[in-house]
Amino acid sequence: MKVLVVGGGGREHALAWKLAQSPRVDTVFVAPGNGGTALTGRIQNLDIVDQTQLGAWAVQEKIGLVVVGPEGPLAAGIVDEFRALGLRIFGPTRAAAQLESSKAFSKAFMQRHGIPTAAHETFSDAVAAHAYVTEKGVPIVIKADGLAAGKGVVVAMTLDEAHAAIDLMLPPKAESNRRAQDGARVVIEEYLEGEEASFMVVCNGQDALPLATSQDHKRLLDGDLGPNTGGMGAYSPAPVVKPAVHARAMREVILPTLRGMEKEGVVYTGFLYAGLMIGSKGQVKTLEFNCRLGDPETQPILMRLKTDLVDILWAATEPSASSRLDQIDMQWDRRTALGVVLAAHGYPQQPRTGDLISGLPPEALDAMVFHAATKRSGEVLATSGGRVLCVTALADNVRKAQQRAYDIIKAIRFDGAQCRSDIGHRAIGK
Ligand code: AMP
Ligand code: GLY
Repeated sequence: MKVLVVGGGGREHALAWKLAQSPRVDTVFVAPGNGGTALTGRIQNLDIVDQTQLGAWAVQEKIGLVVVGPEGPLAAGIVDEFRALGLRIFGPTRAAAQLESSKAFSKAFMQRHGIPTAAHETFSDAVAAHAYVTEKGVPIVIKADGLAAGKGVVVAMTLDEAHAAIDLMLPPKAESNRRAQDGARVVIEEYLEGEEASFMVVCNGQDALPLATSQDHKRLLDGDLGPNTGGMGAYSPAPVVKPAVHARAMREVILPTLRGMEKEGVVYTGFLYAGLMIGSKGQVKTLEFNCRLGDPETQPILMRLKTDLVDILWAATEPSASSRLDQIDMQWDRRTALGVVLAAHGYPQQPRTGDLISGLPPEALDAMVFHAATKRSGEVLATSGGRVLCVTALADNVRKAQQRAYDIIKAIRFDGAQCRSDIGHRAIGK
């Protein structure tokens, strides 16, 4: 079978790497892919970005399974479009992807279906938003509605920060009129305390099969300081997700979400990612939904997956009458996998591109360097965006996996490279 992975980041490299291990697969095409997916024999990059052209190509090539990585194409309706062409594609429809693409939609959805989440209000009027923040005080969380690659959220510890965030997301005066017509909205919500975990499942509309748990590090700097990023590193499993927390996440968040979507006439298929805040007594609240896998969480998670990913996604894309998803028994490596992101100079504000990369290790069973923003021309590998590589290692515990990943990083060079030095710190000793 030929498989197509849509996207070009670290998550897509990991997906392609894992799918290519299936005995059912001849070739995995990655569109557009990156410098890492351009390397391997059974994985090939495909330089088609236009969705309609990509669909026509997939039909012509008789692609057996399409897997979509990022939220952009999902929110643009790639699943609806490819299904209409008769292609087998795993992902949520455009309507289902609203769970991620609109914070206002997802917050209102959670409220309608009693799914635990932070109290919130949505505003399109800047004056009212400012007044609300003044009334509520800090800490408070300001979120731009719409896709923002994990960067549209400000956790404001001072009123100045909160007002500045509103000014940025709902600009005042003349510009605000234009933006208001564009439908700019902010969601302002209660600040939640606790520890975060990423909880991802495979959905076929009725059933949800949980993947291994994970935790990422969204802040740029050590000690979880600095601005929010797309994610600076991740590990799996997440010790904070104890069995009781896991059960609550399924019972209180995931299953009510599938049922709620169904009730509203939208069958949820695809990966579903709930960003959870876990309180000190094991209470679970939903910070956000993503309609895709997490990046970089996918890299460590897939390093631990022993079951054939094609079998899982094949079962998840069977027509509902013959669904076999509940018969899949996912097997996980008992070890811990930990991935550290190497980011470019200037990330996240203004990543510099074109820095030459050297010192990559050969592939190993217990260590993989997943590429994200890299570009290969001949023998030369260079940076092409913000998050460049995710160095991922498997070992008996978090500390050893961390050591192994950082040992590999020591040899990797590119100008301006930045990474956190404490990925996994919350899990050490747990
Ligand atoms: P989101 O994109 O909504 O997940 O927000 C990005 C990050 O902001 C989260 O991973 C949290 O670290 C933080 N965050 C979002 N909402 C809240 C909240 N209500 N309370 C505390 N932190 C939050
Ligand atoms: N790592 C967080 C995300 O993928 O949204």
